[in-house]
Amino acid sequence: MEKKELMYEGKAKKVWTTEDPDVVIVDYKDDATAFNGEKKGTIVGKGVVNNRMTNHVFKMMEEKGVPTHLVEELSDRETAVKKVSIVPLEVIVRNVAAGSFSKRMGVEEGKQLLCPILEFSYKDDDLGDPFINDDYALALGLATQEEIDTIKTYTKEINEILKAYFLAAGMKLIDFKIEFGKDKDGKIILADEVSPDTCRLWDVETNAKLDKDRFRRDMGNVEEAYNEVFKRLGL
Ligand code: TMP
Repeated sequence: MEKKELMYEGKAKKVWTTEDPDVVIVDYKDDATAFNGEKKGTIVGKGVVNNRMTNHVFKMMEEKGVPTHLVEELSDRETAVKKVSIVPLEVIVRNVAAGSFSKRMGVEEGKQLLCPILEFSYKDDDLGDPFINDDYALALGLATQEEIDTIKTYTKEINEILKAYFLAAGMKLIDFKIEFGKDKDGKIILADEVSPDTCRLWDVETNAKLDKDRFRRDMGNVEEAYNEVFKRLGL
């Protein structure tokens, strides 16, 4: 399968058309941004880590009954995926307080939550991905009730699978963001990526941050953290 035309370039990935109208190729870059693109940088090797990790996770999801857009890994940085229309929701799960939740709620980072939180943001860079609820999504036609129900069911399963997967590699899954798409038949499937860009992962013993917060917060050892996750997961 070969890349034809550049269809879209995002902050961390390029998407290319192929000869198959239902399949596109995702090409992972080393570019990193934070704070809605205000902060820019490069994390050397990130594209490889995120591509390999996402594909490994998506294969695992398929085996556990969660459908994904994965078709086939083509190279270190390139993967063929089903063309979907992305549901414009950033679906966030929080197991432990951190990041914007800690700020908004005045809860210290690292506090265990009594139950996982599932939250939505409206995927719109111009608006800064505002926090919304189900009614906003329904009222604006971002998704139907049935789609929201499916997304929530899958997301809860994904959280349980990921928590166990990372824990087995010595990492706590603090929170993460996923996105879903609709395939050509309108079926909801997991899309985008699962990587240290989109998950907070803390070392189970030391709570050392092994994710993009090292870049967001200028903590140093950014590449080392991505490589550590890669190594621990045996990718
Ligand atoms: P937050 O605490 O900043 O809201 O982030 C929650 C989770 O979502 C965290 O694991 C990082 C991830 N995330 C993204 O993947 N993309 C984004 O643009 C943002 C803001 C967060």
